[in-house]
Amino acid sequence: MKTSKKVKSVPPSGIREFFELVVGMDDVISLGVGEPDFVTPWRIRESGIYSLEAGYTSYTSNKGLLKLRKLISEKIRNEYSKNFDPQNEVLITTGVSEAYDLAIRAIVDEGDEVVIMEPSYVSYNPCVNFAGGKVKKVTTELKNGFKPNFEDIKQKITDKTVAIVINYPNNPTGTCISKEKLKNIFKIAKENDIWLISDEIYSDMVFEGEKTSSLEIKNAKDNLILLDGFSKSYAMTGWRIGYAVGKEEIIKTMNKIHQYTMLCAPILSQKAAIEALKNARPDVEEMINKYRRRKKLVVNKLEKIGLDHYEPDGSFYVFPKITSTNLSSKEFAEKLLDRKKVAVVPGTAFGEAGEGFIRISFSTGKKELNLALNKINDFVKNQR
Ligand SMILES: Cc1ncc(COP(=O)(O)O)c(C=O)c1O
Repeated sequence: MKTSKKVKSVPPSGIREFFELVVGMDDVISLGVGEPDFVTPWRIRESGIYSLEAGYTSYTSNKGLLKLRKLISEKIRNEYSKNFDPQNEVLITTGVSEAYDLAIRAIVDEGDEVVIMEPSYVSYNPCVNFAGGKVKKVTTELKNGFKPNFEDIKQKITDKTVAIVINYPNNPTGTCISKEKLKNIFKIAKENDIWLISDEIYSDMVFEGEKTSSLEIKNAKDNLILLDGFSKSYAMTGWRIGYAVGKEEIIKTMNKIHQYTMLCAPILSQKAAIEALKNARPDVEEMINKYRRRKKLVVNKLEKIGLDHYEPDGSFYVFPKITSTNLSSKEFAEKLLDRKKVAVVPGTAFGEAGEGFIRISFSTGKKELNLALNKINDFVKNQR
């Protein structure tokens, strides 16, 4: 029987493919996972338990609980003095994953183009392809701290371009960009009358310098689809809860798909997200301080090993260059797993621009990180 040609033409996730190898192996230290090693803070779990006990087991409005939408709108107003009407300009989704897919499907018709920086988060390109669109890649490089070049983006814009996708703090490189650069990217979006999809899922996880958000940019709202969520900052990956904000027109279009496909995000997760926004700031700070200390540890070790890298400004990833070992990204990851039982993600899982790199995630305790990095040190010394 038939399956879709379009779906078949999209390659499987490089991360999943690699981690199939890890499954079934004992004593592996994984620096591969893209999720916090912390459990959701207790006060958030407790509010989920309470909601279940109290019988909150129904659907909610398609757009999500108004109370949660109001809190998100208030947070944005307090932090960035921007107004998003909680009734029509905020949509609660099952994670940023759904929000991104909805945004893409809401704007892409067959043959339309979307500009994406590479290396990039694994879902960006496939969702564009599933929607019938084409990805135009802009390669970012270590020598520029993986920051995109304004002219490179401009060159990719054609009359078929419908959006530019950005993600800062970035997965997999850990880079953030300055307000100046953000302004320039918005300028391109405005001049060409296209959307800027800004995935700010790591927005709370900034270690160095000032936190920049698309929401700071003057008149950003006209072109912006902002995506954010609870998975990373609040260690809530399994709750599947996120949101999109934007002008009424785009949120209405996204909600049209959402109401037929997902209906609504789980009510328990929405209740828990309300608690997260109201009371869990101290828990978030505590986790970020831990990530900050781990980042220092990883970066110091990488310097000692002699693997060139960009010191992450945010997220919980670092993306070191491994070409000095004369191994490809895939060979490096496979041999490291085989010989040292340490799992990292080959950079090519994030696109061709990731060749020559690996992604190390520091969402692992200090003891394990130390051990894994010592093993990487041995491995690299023996390769050179
Ligand atoms: C950049 C980026 N966007 C979106 C997601 C998916 O997030 P969620 O759990 O909210 O679907 C991830 C998860 O790794 C990510 O790294």
